[in-house]
This record gives sequence, C-alpha cells and structure tokens, in this order.
Amino acid sequence: MRRSVFLGCGSYLPDKILTNDDLAKDLDTSDEWISKRTGIRQRHIAAEGQFTSDLGVEASKVAIANAGITLDEIDLIVLATVTPDNTFPSTATHIQSKLGVKRGAAFDVQAACSGFIYALNSVDNMIRLGQANKALLVGAETFSRIVDWEDRSTCVLFGDGAGAVVLGAEDNIGSNEDRGVLSTHIHSDGDYYKLLWTNGGPSTNGQAGYIEMDGADVFKHAVLRMAETVQESLAENDLDISDIDWLVPHQANIRIMDSVAKKLSIDKSKVVVTVDQHANTSAATIPMALADAQSRQCFSSGDLISLTAMGGGFTWGSALIRW
Ligand code: UT7
Repeated sequence: MRRSVFLGCGSYLPDKILTNDDLAKDLDTSDEWISKRTGIRQRHIAAEGQFTSDLGVEASKVAIANAGITLDEIDLIVLATVTPDNTFPSTATHIQSKLGVKRGAAFDVQAACSGFIYALNSVDNMIRLGQANKALLVGAETFSRIVDWEDRSTCVLFGDGAGAVVLGAEDNIGSNEDRGVLSTHIHSDGDYYKLLWTNGGPSTNGQAGYIEMDGADVFKHAVLRMAETVQESLAENDLDISDIDWLVPHQANIRIMDSVAKKLSIDKSKVVVTVDQHANTSAATIPMALADAQSRQCFSSGDLISLTAMGGGFTWGSALIRW
C-alpha cells in the first residue's frame, strides 16, 4: 500500500515581535487579560514588503533541508492560506518560483484555520494515487494585514508565520503500525459562515476586509468539533485515545486546547503548545507546532500523532500520523 510519510519539517517567524504589553500601549487591553484568556504572550509581525510567500519560502527551505531532498525532486506544492499575496495567481506558484522549483503543480487551499488539515488531505490523496511523489505542504499567513488593529476582541489573537512539511511516498503493508499518514478527515458547515469571517472580499467589495468573529460561539464549536474528529480518526484506524502519544491541535487559544484534551481524557503533557510564542497563525499553526516539537526531539519513530483543527466556514478536521 502506498502511503504518505513525513520527511522533514520547518518553520519561520518574522523578526518583529509584538508583545501583549506593546499592544496595551495603544489599546484598552492588558497582558494579564490576553495571557489569562488565551495563553498568548506575543505575536510576530511581517515586515513591510514581506509577503505570505516570503514566510512560506523561508519555512520551506528549512523543511527541504531537514528532509534532505533536492528541489528537483519536488513535484507538488500546496499552500494553505487565507492571506494570499494576490487574489490570483495562487501564492503557491509564487513560492514555487521563489524556491526555484521548475516542475510539478502548485495550488492554494483555503479552509481558514483548518487549512493545513484540508491541504494534508489533498496531498495525502494525491500521493496515495501516485499523482505526486515528493510534496511540499506549506501553511503560511500574514494575518496582521487583515486584523482591525482597533478591535481588541480580535487583534490580540492573531499573528504572522509559516510552517512547512515535506511528504514522500512509501510502500508498506498499510497497518496502523506502519509509518505515515493513517487517515485524514475533513468537514464543513457553511451555516456558520459569518461567525468567523472577513467583512470583505474581491467579489463583494473589492477589498480583503477585516476579521470579525463571535468568539464565544467559535470557542464552543472548536472544542466540540476538534474532539469529535479526533475520535473519528481513531475509530477509522481501530485505535484508542490511549494510543495517542502526541496531540497537535490548531493553536488558537490554550483554553480551547486544554478543553479538547480534557474532553478526550488526554494528559496535558501530550499536547504540543506553541500559541504562547506566536498567537494564532491560522493555517500555519499545525506545521509550525510539528516543526517545533520535532526540533525539541519530542517525537520518536512509531509515535502516534493526532492533528486537529477548526476554523472559519466553519471547517474542521483531523489527521492521524504514525511518525
Ligand atoms: O481558530 C479559530 C479562531 N478563533 C478562535 O479560536 C477564538 C475562539 N474564541 C476565544 O478564544 C475566546 O472567545 C476569546 C479569547 C476571543 C474571548 O474570551 P472570552 O473569555 O470568551 O471573553 P468574552 O468575549 O466573553 O469577553 C469578556 C470581556 C468582555 O467585557 P465585558 O463585556 O464582560 O465587560 C470583553 O469586552 O472581555 C472583554 N475583552 C477584552 N478585555 C481586554 C475582549 N477582548 C479584550 C481584550 N482585552 N483584548
């Protein structure tokens, strides 16, 4: 059976750091409120002229080096983002060109904070079908460009950053003990379209718009859906909560992650947490957390890693990976 395996991970954060105290200088907020309610301590902000593709390229270079492959081996580039450089062409093609990849296909996937799981679903299926052999999967965002910096209920929550992984094809028996992506699961419910969205777009008013969110409702659904889809992925693979070595949830709010872990009876020590360092970077949080955990040598060969995310749409999903 052909399966997708993780060959390398990388991440990149822009140099500029904006702490909670920095925000409190111009906004009616405080480090105490932000860190207590969200776990966020700081976020990184892209420099003027530094685009989503630039962040994606830097993370990709690390992932490619980590995977030990050459650029000409890459035959697929998929970028998860809701903050593209331009409305079109896809920012993935910009990354392709900036990296110097000369073949294969490149496209963007748009599923907000669930973007990495959606993109992983596409890449995994393409690899399984033999349509790709070595894929670069990137999550990159410049959310600082779409937050309303005067709206304290949203602007404190987001940041800029990128994560990338290289996936390759491997033949194995296909049991839940074999390494690679065991399964991916994606869902959406468009009835919640306006609970987490930007109040603009190319087709509506010709502008990117700013983020608006019903925080409490998003919180409630995030906990419910993320936990539910982790269970779904375990059932699909005849595995149990106790089999999970690491939970890598979308990094939006530490309270959401704690609640998901509690709902699933997963010990907090098994949850990879990076939200304190960079806030919510939407589609980039999961690959950044994977890169962070890998660089700290948390993962061992054979570990079962559960990924889960929820975001605008609403969209949500999960993946189970044997490392
Ligand atoms: O990936 C999906 C993306 N989004 C999310 O995951 C976000 C999900 N939601 C959340 O994380 C939480 O709902 C928030 C962090 C957004 C809000 O936390 P909360 O505990 O639900 O607070 P709240 O919205 O109930 O607000 C409590 C109070 C309000 O004041 P009053 O009405 O009680 O006087 C807010 O006006 O906190 C106030 N508030 C703030 N105060 C200081 C809201 N934002 C701030 C702020 N600083 N930045």
